[in-house]
Amino acid sequence: MNLVIATSNEGKLNEFKRILSKSFDNIFSMKDIGVNEDIVENGETLEENSLIKAQFVKRFTPFCVLADDTGLCVNALHGKPGVRSARFFAENATHAQNRTYLLKLIEGVTDRSAYFSAVLTLILPDGNIIVVKGETKGKITSSEIGDSGFGYDSVFFSDELGKTFAQATKEEKDRVSHRGKATQELIKRLEKIGI
Ligand code: IMP
Repeated sequence: MNLVIATSNEGKLNEFKRILSKSFDNIFSMKDIGVNEDIVENGETLEENSLIKAQFVKRFTPFCVLADDTGLCVNALHGKPGVRSARFFAENATHAQNRTYLLKLIEGVTDRSAYFSAVLTLILPDGNIIVVKGETKGKITSSEIGDSGFGYDSVFFSDELGKTFAQATKEEKDRVSHRGKATQELIKRLEKIGI
């Protein structure tokens, strides 16, 4: 069974390749199959955006397609940036701009609790769809700590690991992260149907 990951985010792609390597014969990126378009994520929820991305890429391949939409939800910001995490600072913001903007917004705020939520949508070759979700809790640091990972990793202190995701090894992050948990659930669901 072959899989295409519907993302242009290298960080996500590498994580999925690591965690799903035993479940699929080959794992391709969008680029590998010649899809270079930016997907318009105009859904209101993580579920909608995850489905939009998976359906967009499925038009170009007979293989399984997996998409992920992730949100960082900060309690002091009433769940923001959430579904707008990639475009928090501005429409085409860089990861660094988003992190700096977040730290500035909650400068001095005592409640720094937050969680990552990831919704994964897998479309199988026969068109059947599997949706799974994973969450992980933590706190927003007051400055960037660590240099691994991507996105908000250096400002997210994982409660389960006792360090930021950017200080964690790849294996540690995969074990406790929103994406890691959702993918473990996906593997269980695939095993049930013999994949
Ligand atoms: P999207 O799911 O690609 O829309 O990602 C939303 C935003 O969250 C982007 O800025 C990502 O870089 C960021 N993001 C997604 N997953 C992670 C993660 O595991 N760690 C840190 N940031 C992440």
